[in-house]
Amino acid sequence: MERVKCAVFGATGVVGQNFLRLLVEHPYFELAAICASDVRIGQKLGSAKEQVVGGIPAPFADLVFDPVDVNVLESKRIEVAFSGLPADVAKEFEKEAARRGIKVFSNAGAYRMDQNVPILIPEINHPHLALVREQETPGFIVTNANCTATGLTMALLPLLPFGIRKLVVASYQAISGAGYPGLSAMDIFGNVIPYISNEEPKLRQECVKICGELTGGEIVPADWQVHAHCIRVQTLIGHLLSVHIELHAAPSLEAVQTAIMRYQSPPAVVGLPTAPDRPICYLEQMDRPQPRYDVMLGTPERARGMAIAIGRLEVEENIVRFITLSNNLVRGAAGGSLLNAELAYRQGLL
Ligand SMILES: NC(=O)c1ccc[n+]([C@@H]2O[C@H](COP(=O)([O-])OP(=O)(O)OC[C@H]3O[C@@H](n4cnc5c(N)ncnc54)[C@H](OP(=O)(O)O)[C@@H]3O)[C@@H](O)[C@H]2O)c1
Repeated sequence: MERVKCAVFGATGVVGQNFLRLLVEHPYFELAAICASDVRIGQKLGSAKEQVVGGIPAPFADLVFDPVDVNVLESKRIEVAFSGLPADVAKEFEKEAARRGIKVFSNAGAYRMDQNVPILIPEINHPHLALVREQETPGFIVTNANCTATGLTMALLPLLPFGIRKLVVASYQAISGAGYPGLSAMDIFGNVIPYISNEEPKLRQECVKICGELTGGEIVPADWQVHAHCIRVQTLIGHLLSVHIELHAAPSLEAVQTAIMRYQSPPAVVGLPTAPDRPICYLEQMDRPQPRYDVMLGTPERARGMAIAIGRLEVEENIVRFITLSNNLVRGAAGGSLLNAELAYRQGLL
């Protein structure tokens, strides 16, 4: 079967390099072009600095950087662009790419809140992919959520049937969430920074859009109150969240525990190459989840880092509390975007 030709934009970044890793021998997609900033044009990918564990995959080392230019994509018959571009660059490029027929799967925040652009997390809202038909361009843009919003909304999945009223969240976010080179060591080493620019508004807006209902070609956001403090800590990978949820119902601890432990992906997602067999792992040990041990959860091998962890579960009347951990670079970025593209492929949109 012929694979769909794809490109990775921002291929030297921490998200971009995770795309490269996940695209090795991918059954649906063939990596045929890479881009980063202009200074890279004409250089080989193998000459770039390795930002992620495992480094630059050997099969792609001889690929040469192209300019961020839709004409180049067309000449290489690229159908899918995976974007790990900064939001300002993405804003210019992604719309033009969609206008010229490219299907863009983006990690950037530039278009997430556009009415016709889904923030897709297939396990939660796979029907939202239908929104791309409203975009009126030959191509389209599908975004994935901010990395913190991804982990939070996935952890809420088993609780949706109990009816959510209010969320109070505090995050402990890894340094890699700020990209490379990210924060200065002088700022973060031995420190905790109680503010991440624009993160709390993103968390508030994106969660309710992701969990909203698609009716009549529009998403009606969930009607929850979301309160958040987003905090940077000196871990490398993995955003840990302390979550406090007020529900409409008052379930027992056993009922909530069972809902989390038995949670299974919807059939629309099952069997996609990057879909984890179990997207939510419940950890009973009192001192878990921890970024050091739990950030690469997920089977099969291709889905490592795609499962989130929940631990420290407590239920008191209609209040549920837990700690959750997700991999910001895999589930919260490259892996999530790739899963979105796999869903689009399965649905015949590519
Ligand atoms: N890090 C995360 O956990 C995470 C999670 C979810 C979403 N995101 C989003 O994903 C995107 C990438 O994040 P990241 O953490 O991978 O950032 P990063 O490590 O800073 O990488 C940025 C990439 O964009 C390229 N780039 C920068 N300016 C460019 C320009 N003017 N033209 C073309 N390419 C340019 C860089 O190329 P050079 O190396 O040549 O400069 C690099 O490849 C951002 O929009 C971010 O908000 C990040």
